[in-house]
Amino acid sequence: MCGIVTAIATNNVVPVLLEGLRKLEYRGYDSAGVAVLANGLTRLRSTGRVAELAALADARQLSANIGIAHTRWATHGVPCERNAHPHISGGLAVVHNGIIENFEAIKSSLQARGYVFESDTDTEAIAHLVHSKLATTPDLFEAVRLALNELVGAYAIGVVAEADPFRAIVARRGSPLLLGVGEEGMYAASDTAALLQVTRKVIYLEDGDVAELRLNAYRIVRPDGTPAEREMHISSLSADAVELGQFRHYMQKEIFEQPQALGNTLEIIAGGGSVSPQLFGSRAPEVLDGVRRVLVLACGTSYHAGLVARYWLESVAKVPCSVEIASEYRYRESVPESDTLVVVISQSGETADTLAALKHAHGLGMGRTLAICNVPESAIVRETALRFITRAGPEIGVASTKAFTTQLAALALLTLTLAKLNGRLSEAEEARHLGALRHLPVAVQKVLELEPEIEKWAQRFAAKHHALFLGRGRHWPIAMEGALKLKEISYIHAEAYAAGELKHGPLALVDKDMPVIAVAPADELLEKLKSNLQEVRARGGELYVFADAGSEIAESEGLHILHMPEHYGMLSPVLHVIPLQLLSYHAALVKGTDVDKPRNLAKSVTVE
Ligand code: F6R
Repeated sequence: MCGIVTAIATNNVVPVLLEGLRKLEYRGYDSAGVAVLANGLTRLRSTGRVAELAALADARQLSANIGIAHTRWATHGVPCERNAHPHISGGLAVVHNGIIENFEAIKSSLQARGYVFESDTDTEAIAHLVHSKLATTPDLFEAVRLALNELVGAYAIGVVAEADPFRAIVARRGSPLLLGVGEEGMYAASDTAALLQVTRKVIYLEDGDVAELRLNAYRIVRPDGTPAEREMHISSLSADAVELGQFRHYMQKEIFEQPQALGNTLEIIAGGGSVSPQLFGSRAPEVLDGVRRVLVLACGTSYHAGLVARYWLESVAKVPCSVEIASEYRYRESVPESDTLVVVISQSGETADTLAALKHAHGLGMGRTLAICNVPESAIVRETALRFITRAGPEIGVASTKAFTTQLAALALLTLTLAKLNGRLSEAEEARHLGALRHLPVAVQKVLELEPEIEKWAQRFAAKHHALFLGRGRHWPIAMEGALKLKEISYIHAEAYAAGELKHGPLALVDKDMPVIAVAPADELLEKLKSNLQEVRARGGELYVFADAGSEIAESEGLHILHMPEHYGMLSPVLHVIPLQLLSYHAALVKGTDVDKPRNLAKSVTVE
């Protein structure tokens, strides 16, 4: 989704703005732009990459002490220079991340007052609205605040004005934005990674905050103008964590970081640690007491993590669990139950639908809430009673990989905790499960060693247009995750089915051009799955089977098998997703797609 950088400093801010945009590229974008104040307002926009914008800035020898910059992920209006941000009204310029839902009404009323719109965006309405406020409220800060009070929807914005060149105004509601306090000046950006180049001192703005940035001061107010104090944090994010290093793509780096990410996430149970409610926050004993069911709300890959957890929660903890796509739940009439633990899962913690689903659950009176999230200061984490922060480190590749496996680790801990609270976990069972969790990083490392063989398989996939993924039980969501990974980065159409459903329809699709990928761990469902594989072979379908060590499935013409190093019981889904991540990564490499920034997708989906 769109990314924002704002800077006011004693030195030239153009390199800071552009480097900030580079760091936000991973969020997904289709155009980029910058506006600076230096003897008037100068705006440059490009429909290409940030590198092209930087070349334009170089050619113009752009230099200034104050400016705003933006990467745009189109929502209103096609990607083109005219729609790229910043948008200008008179001498002021605005960048915006989010969606203004009432922009049509604002636009009509502004048009009636003579404002001419040059773009199809909702953002331009913000620029003109602020400008219109300046007619009666000459103070830019006030004009922005009053304009924002008329907006319905989500925004993070940055504003600079020719007539007021010594301050920048920023604000947020629903979309992420944080301030950076540097040695040379003040900054704001959509995430910390964009500001590490100038500072580690960050201030997370709350929903509704409006802030003024001056060279060596800032102030924050609430929507009604009352001053607000916000804590300063020292970011511990390392600059290396967002660098590619020896890897070709962030996705590859993040796949290979999984042993480390899991080790960090599970550090709390290292050594003699055991499962306890406190893993989820100090209020957990009280919030988890009397929980009788679990409702998981999430989107995309995080939703798949929830689907795996359903199998664990029901079989190990004996707690009924339902898992819902957040965008469905938020608009559906549902029956709230006060003994339900609502678990929201999100890598970014900013996904608009997940956040809205959580608020919807709150609105229904469901106060027992837990966030499983990778970003400690994110909006979602700030809204829940309990939290578990996965320690995957920043995930830059649009396709989620290490966030998923660390979410599974967190959900396994939740399962064991609820099982223990419900008297369903003996000491011996707890010790066995904890042993398996502690060994997980090593087990994942061994799976990663299969990469060369998977690479060979990927060569054969790249020419295909469709693929079917099959799994059963707790590996069905893994098949779904494999299909999602393949389609999002290689653009090969892929669908996942619970293998038992094959003959109820999808078998009709199977022929020699339809590769079928089966997740086939050596569990209680293996024999059933083998029958499903026979159904595919009998129709001439080519099978690619990820089996466990010792599984007796014989390789034959049209049936390719790759053996995982070991069978991993309850946690087997964590291992079985790894080869599917690698398969989609290598298929995308062969196809030459933009692996880290697949077309049309964004990393942080901060709009509905
Ligand atoms: C797929 C992917 C998305 C996200 C989804 C939710 O690889 O990354 O499906 O999982 O947009 O994002 P978060 O987890 O940030 O809420």
